[in-house]
Amino acid sequence: MKIILLGYMASGKSTIGRFLAEKKHIPFIDLDEYIEKREGKTVSEIFELKGEIYFRKQEHVFLKELLEKKEDFILSLGGGTPCYAGNMDVLLNFKNVKSVYLKTSINTIVDRLTNEKSQRPLVARLNKEELAEFVAKHLFERSYFYNQATYKLVVDNKSVYEIIGDLQELLG
Ligand code: S3P
Repeated sequence: MKIILLGYMASGKSTIGRFLAEKKHIPFIDLDEYIEKREGKTVSEIFELKGEIYFRKQEHVFLKELLEKKEDFILSLGGGTPCYAGNMDVLLNFKNVKSVYLKTSINTIVDRLTNEKSQRPLVARLNKEELAEFVAKHLFERSYFYNQATYKLVVDNKSVYEIIGDLQELLG
């Protein structure tokens, strides 16, 4: 079974993915890191030099490439992956794939992103007030896609260990 973690920026997808993979003794892949390796550029550089449309196209190509692999793994997506290029349908149509939406509140995201926005081109230039407004609208728009995941797990105010426990219960 391939396990796909999705959710908004700073919802903990990569951190949780790494821990879960260790527990389950299967490989962990971070889609942004995979794209960076394959493109030889950071996500910020890709956005800056080639633009968001190019990034979305490559994100789609590499997501499919990974899903076509035989082996099982845990994959954390980028925050926008489920919302572009029919990627959510791709996920839902692959056999042996289960997705989990790591659901966070606007406040949690804004707090976390205030400290971690520099590597994220969509929010890097926003001040705190702009960030709160942007996240509220963006999360609302994106929730339509996130909510199509196989499972939804509220992760606000939970430790990594609690979240791993919840995921193990959900996924068996
Ligand atoms: C994006 C989220 C980022 C990265 C890119 C675009 C988005 O990943 O893919 O900056 O559209 O939400 P994280 O969710 O890991 O920050």
